[in-house]
Amino acid sequence: MADQRVSDNEIPPVAHDGSTDGREHEFVHDPVMLAEIVAEAADAPDGVWLDCTLGGAGHARAVLEAHGGLRLIGLDRDPDALAAAGERLADLGDRAELHRCRFDALDRALDDAGVDRLAGFLFDLGVSSPQLDVAERGFSFRHDGPLDMRMDPDGARTAADLVNTADHGTLARVLSRYGDERFAGRIASAIIDHRPITRTAELAEIVVQAIPAAARRTGGHPAKRTFQAIRIEINDELTVLGPALDAAIDRLDTGGRGLVLTYHSGEDRITKSVIRDRTTDHTPVGLAVRHEPDFAALRPLARKASDDECARNPRARSARLRGLVRTAAVDATEAA
Ligand SMILES: C[S@@+](CC[C@H](N)C(=O)[O-])C[C@H]1O[C@@H](n2cnc3c(N)ncnc32)[C@H](O)[C@@H]1O
Repeated sequence: MADQRVSDNEIPPVAHDGSTDGREHEFVHDPVMLAEIVAEAADAPDGVWLDCTLGGAGHARAVLEAHGGLRLIGLDRDPDALAAAGERLADLGDRAELHRCRFDALDRALDDAGVDRLAGFLFDLGVSSPQLDVAERGFSFRHDGPLDMRMDPDGARTAADLVNTADHGTLARVLSRYGDERFAGRIASAIIDHRPITRTAELAEIVVQAIPAAARRTGGHPAKRTFQAIRIEINDELTVLGPALDAAIDRLDTGGRGLVLTYHSGEDRITKSVIRDRTTDHTPVGLAVRHEPDFAALRPLARKASDDECARNPRARSARLRGLVRTAAVDATEAA
């Protein structure tokens, strides 16, 4: 049966002071599977650690503290995240260099920084807690705000643009493909009937009313899948993942670690497929030139969060850590 995980990202937020009012604007994000990621990074060679989804730099800071031979290139498309990360890493001076860009521009960012090879990289996919918790960002079905959902506030299209202009087929396809939503057609019809829709609370209520009463009582908040799907479409999250992951793997040094944290089935399928492709020899028998010259030098790894962490941090429940280690140089593999 197909894996139909939906991210558990949107749980009631816990602010610095322990309150849960959800209007805390400080960047508070509990990094998922931190111990496992730090342990992998600690075994990486000296060099550059690329964090493709820097967020508030929770993972990045811990990795730099655990391994004194690493310096960081951190990418994020969200200027608020970069500002928070900049503050968090300020005392590390030139060990940390931050770039505002989408992670599919990682080759350009690394070339600009004069970096060729990587000791390791991390993609911690999806949204951060502050993106969800700040109502004005418009990601949340729990906190009413403008229907926005752009990770990059200069992005061309908001969630309101999509919801108010897309035809029924497009809406239903987005909800089904990116949210695994069973009632995609019904929800798309309800959205079209209620246009224009400008607020997240309005959309959440339309979704609740559109699905059968029995289905509203199972599987968490009924609008969870719709919001996830629209967010993925607006931020083009899945189309850029495969090529970016391939580009990062190409740059892994011997001993280097490439890590990806996925939270829902769409991003997990792409990640699994890239890692499987890169660690499998697809060369037809008898052909001298290998399709994937480095397949034998890449060892896959996969982990889930511990029960303890899942109990402490519900965001970890849907998380999968996937990755690979480059165990030998490409040239050595080809010579073998
Ligand atoms: C789950 S958070 C990362 C949290 C971070 N690991 C930490 O410990 O604080 C994901 C971050 O990735 C960013 N992001 C998501 N997709 C991106 C993309 N395609 N390019 C660049 N940044 C992206 C988001 O803006 C968000 O800040």
